[in-house]
Parts: sequence; C-alpha cells; structure tokens
Amino acid sequence: VTMRLLGVLLCVLLMWTEGCVGDTPANCTYEDLLGTWVFQMSRGGRDGTVNCTAEVIGNNTKTITLEKLSVATDELGNTGFFTLIYNQGFEVVINGYKWFAFFKYTGEGSKVTSYCDHTLPGWVHDVLGRNWACFVGKKVEPVPPRKNYNLLFGSRFLQRQYKHNLDFINEINTVQNSWKAAAYAEHELYSLQELHYRAGGPASQIPVRVRPVPVQAHVAKLAAALPEHWDWRNMNSVNFLSPVRNQGSCGSCYSFATMGMLEARVRILTNNSETPTLSPQQVVSCSEYSQGCDGGFPYLIGKYVQDFGIVDESCLPYIGKDSPCGLPHKCARLYTAEYKYVGGFYGGCSEMAMMQELVKNGPMAVAFEVYPDFMHYKEGIYHHTGLADPFNPFELTNHAVLLVGYGRCHMTGQKYWIVKNSWGEGWGEGGFFRIRRGSDECAIESIAVAANPIPKL
Ligand SMILES: *[C@@H]1O[C@H](CO)[C@@H](O)[C@H](O)[C@H]1NC(C)=O
Ligand SMILES: *[C@@H]1O[C@H](CO)[C@@H](O)[C@H](O)[C@H]1NC(C)=O
Ligand SMILES: *[C@@H]1O[C@H](CO)[C@@H](O)[C@H](O)[C@H]1NC(C)=O
Ligand SMILES: *[C@@H]1O[C@H](CO)[C@@H](O)[C@H](O)[C@H]1NC(C)=O
Repeated sequence: VTMRLLGVLLCVLLMWTEGCVGDTPANCTYEDLLGTWVFQMSRGGRDGTVNCTAEVIGNNTKTITLEKLSVATDELGNTGFFTLIYNQGFEVVINGYKWFAFFKYTGEGSKVTSYCDHTLPGWVHDVLGRNWACFVGKKVEPVPPRKNYNLLFGSRFLQRQYKHNLDFINEINTVQNSWKAAAYAEHELYSLQELHYRAGGPASQIPVRVRPVPVQAHVAKLAAALPEHWDWRNMNSVNFLSPVRNQGSCGSCYSFATMGMLEARVRILTNNSETPTLSPQQVVSCSEYSQGCDGGFPYLIGKYVQDFGIVDESCLPYIGKDSPCGLPHKCARLYTAEYKYVGGFYGGCSEMAMMQELVKNGPMAVAFEVYPDFMHYKEGIYHHTGLADPFNPFELTNHAVLLVGYGRCHMTGQKYWIVKNSWGEGWGEGGFFRIRRGSDECAIESIAVAANPIPKL
C-alpha cells in the first residue's frame, strides 16, 4: 500500500498534462443515464457517410425515458431497449431506430470534466442501416459535471523503458501456487506507457463496477445442464479458433478481441470451411465508434461491423499505429447480424450466461482489469495476488480478450475460464491464459459481448 501511494505521489509530481487519453475520458454511470432524455436531430435521409461532427442539429426532437433495467419508452408509450456502454455512452433501440452517442466531456490529459447529462453528437439510423441522421442528447433532470482524475496517463515518467524486476516475479511465485509468473523479453522492448496501451488503455477508465443483476432461474437451469469442460480449440480434436496475434503497443485489444470472435464464429458456422482473418487495422483507422490506438469497446465494434462491414486482413494489414482510413473499395466486407451484451445489457452479465453463450454460439469478447502481476503470467489459473511492482508503476487498465472455453481443475476443483490474448503465441499458455471462474475475478464476468457474423453464402 505504501509503495502504491508513493507511486501515485510520484506520478502526481511528474504529471504531464499534454497527455494521451484512451477510450474517451468520459466517466458516467448507469444512474446518470436513467431518466428522461430529449434527442435533438439533424435532417434525416442521410447514409453512413454522414459526418455527425459537422451536421447542423435542427429543432426536431424525440423524448425518450430510460428505466430499469433496460427499458426505453417514448412520448407515445412505445417501448424499446437501451444499454449503457461501460462509462462511455449508450445505445437505445426503439421504433425501428438505433440511437448511439458518447457522453459529453471537455478537456484532455489529467484535466477532464464529464457532462453525464449531455452527449456528443451521435448517430441514429433505422435498424436496416438505410436512413441516417445525427443527434445530440440532453437529459431533462440535470447531472452536475464531474472532474476525472487521470493520474498516470500522459505522465512523462511513463516514457521510461520497462525493466524486469525479478524480485517482483519471485514474490508472485512465492505467495501462491495457482499460477506461475515469468519475465518476458518482449516487455523490455516497450516503455511503461506502451505496456499500458498493450494492456488496454488508460488508467482513468475504471468505472464503479456495475451492480450485477441476479441470475434468472431459467439461465441457471440451462447452465446446470452444460458440460463440465468446453474448449473451442479442441472440439473432438477440431480447432475452431483463428491463430493468436500480437497487437504490439497499440491499444487495439478491443479490435483483436472482436475480430477473434467473428473469425471463430465464422469457422463454427461453416464447420471450418471459411477461415477468414479480419482486419483489426480497419477498426483502428476507420471506426468513429472507437478511439484507434487509444482504445475502444467490443460492443461498439460489433455495431461498427454491422453498420460498415469489415474487410480481410489482406485488404488493410495491421500496422499497430493510428493512420488515416485508406480503405480500398474493391474489398469484400463481412457484416454482423447482431451484437449484444451477454445477459442482455451492460450489467446483466453472469458466469452462467457466459457459459451458455459460449457453448451455444461460440467465443465472445470479454474485458478484465489488468494488474501488474498479470503481465508476467506464464501458466496456471490466474487470480490477482494484490502485489505491485514498485519499480514499474502500473495503473489499472481494462483489457479486452476472447473467451474460448471453461473447465475445472481435477486436483483442486478450482473452476477456470480459458481465454485467448493478443500478445503473441510466446506469452502465457501458447498465447492463452486461464483465470478463476465464478467469482468475477478482475471483473471478467461483468462485460461479455457477443456478435454474430453473417458468413458468405
Ligand atoms: C467531420 O467534420 C469535422 C468538422 O467539420 C472535420 O474536422 C472532420 O475532419 C470531418 N471528419 C471526416 C471523417 O470527414
Ligand atoms: C429552430 O427554431 C428557431 C426558432 O423557433 C429558428 O430560429 C431556427 O432557425 C430553427 N433552426 C433550424 C435549424 O431549423
Ligand atoms: C469514475 O467515476 C466513479 C464514480 O463516479 C469514480 O469512483 C471514479 O473514481 C471515476 N474515475 C475517474 C478516473 O475519475
Ligand atoms: C465438419 O468437418 C469435419 C472435419 O472436416 C467432418 O468430419 C464433419 O463431418 C463435418 N460436419 C458436418 C456436419 O458436415
């Protein structure tokens, strides 16, 4: 605790305001979102090329009320659906239209204010993606603006190269024997800041955990009938996963996790007769629903792929950097039929709902909190040890990965998830890791996303 405090103090001293912030810096809650919103729209009849930053917002409005747990209602009493998207924004689906916007924020670096009763200009289109317009949302009951504190990110201190601390690794291996830690030569190629990007993005983006809703009886019943063990790498000796990749030092885990899900699900739907490798770079370079190498969320990439489609790796190869969206028109695109939070909405997730989704439909994107001990994971069933590395200060990040299986240890009875990472095959158990299951370890059971691709005819 003292070392952590020292780390924080150091960082405050060294804080560099011209920093980089990942995802968006907005930090809003479910409670902020609940209530009545007025959506003010631009002229309709546009297509997906509409630039909502530049559109003139008119006087046309819709009033929509968002109520527990996920019910949206309009002025006329029609009902629909909504979900919060982490602490960043929300999507509402009602009367055949999908509304999506990020919460409003101002400032950058360590000086950010969230306005959780306003949105930035967002996108609305019908569920077929034909008729587009832009809108801004304003909540009727105001929410006071809130300052965010972004301690480590953008700190000059983080420019320093990462160096192994073998004492830290030994300590992890001494205090527990569920998993083993090791030093990775590749880490020393990165600065502390690059390692943070590799692990998902900025320190600021850990919201208060959503309060999980109780598991419904029918979900529990179905889950109880599932096999003890499931692994999409080995279904009667057949592998349905695409190869493990390496994201480098770009905060693009959310894109790799979503591409890995779509790739696996195409393989499952076609019994491995289609084995595409999709372009994570397209998302990094072209998606306005995410923030390039600064981060993003699988839910919104499911949406991006539905709205715009995704090309093959060969059409736009991965370079691991932000770059302009130079997308050749000739490339074929794959689309999603559906994307959703497992459990129905953000906050509805559970171990049982995830197991069921996994067995029924295939791998899904999940995210979890990365602590410094995790970077050293070599093998075994990971759980956070509570240890920190005083020489390589590290703030919590939220890292997206791909859930591919589950099981239970013969010897100890310990339950685990099997997860595919995007740090190359040399990391962990051949690029995969196992992590405790059933106790929301590092919040891994809080934010699973499923998206269904539409394979070729
Ligand atoms: C959208 O419009 C804004 C403001 O005019 C401009 O800065 C931005 O470059 C435009 N974006 C695209 C993708 O054209
Ligand atoms: C909105 O209404 C106001 C007053 O009713 C009018 O002055 C303004 O031009 C309208 N704006 C648009 C974009 O139609
Ligand atoms: C985000 O908001 C939550 C709840 O309001 C708060 O506890 C947390 O510290 C905030 N995070 C940052 C980085 O400001
Ligand atoms: C799926 O592929 C496997 C291996 O190629 C084959 O043995 C099996 O019969 C196929 N299943 C179906 C339903 O076609």
